[in-house]
Amino acid sequence: MIIAIDGPSGAGKSTVARLLSKRLGFEYIDTGAMYRAIAYKAYLCNIEINEANEHVIDEMLKTTAVDYYNNNIYLDNKNVEGLIRDEHISIGASKVSALKNVRAKMVELQRKIAENKNVILDGRDIGTKVFPNADFKFFITASEKTRAARRYEQLTASGMTVEFENVLSDIKLRDKNDTTRKISPLKKAEDAVLIDTTDMSLDEVVGTIVNAIGGSDVL
Ligand code: DC
Repeated sequence: MIIAIDGPSGAGKSTVARLLSKRLGFEYIDTGAMYRAIAYKAYLCNIEINEANEHVIDEMLKTTAVDYYNNNIYLDNKNVEGLIRDEHISIGASKVSALKNVRAKMVELQRKIAENKNVILDGRDIGTKVFPNADFKFFITASEKTRAARRYEQLTASGMTVEFENVLSDIKLRDKNDTTRKISPLKKAEDAVLIDTTDMSLDEVVGTIVNAIGGSDVL
């Protein structure tokens, strides 16, 4: 069974997906972490992410191994979970995710990892592109300010020093990149259930999803 959760940055997708995966006993796949790992590798290789460097990034991809298991992201067999959450990597991931070969490689990988499993995937194109026939699709969103505030809290709680205004402008920039790119732009699948979490608690969001899929007892 596949549960697809898409939506813009900072909507709380990964928190919701992780809680759901525990509650339902499903595996969780954080597809954003995969694009972040590619952006991190480009950063390590001193490659600026832009269209002019697409061929350089394509070359880099040939010798790049990404994997995701046990809630951790691996880059070239190294666990990089703790190294990919900085804001500059967030922006890099948004940029690198617009590139054709990067997307093709990540989509193929996501389909392979999810094969024959009960999984929850979160991302931007899970319901529209990666698993258009997913059993359940949700599109989770919230107002820009709410998303920036949640992201700000998350970053400061993890010990980073950031300005709210910068977090908000990064969210706006990523929204623009993610919704206007040519390949698989972020959009709600027609058959996805829309959940606006602006005024909802985490428990309410999880409860709404569990109800929509028929209650955890039936799974
Ligand atoms: O979910 P996240 O913020 O960790 O994702 C980082 C970036 O990766 C996001 O700005 C867009 C891109 N992304 C994507 O294009 N497709 C996905 N399925 C997941 C993420």
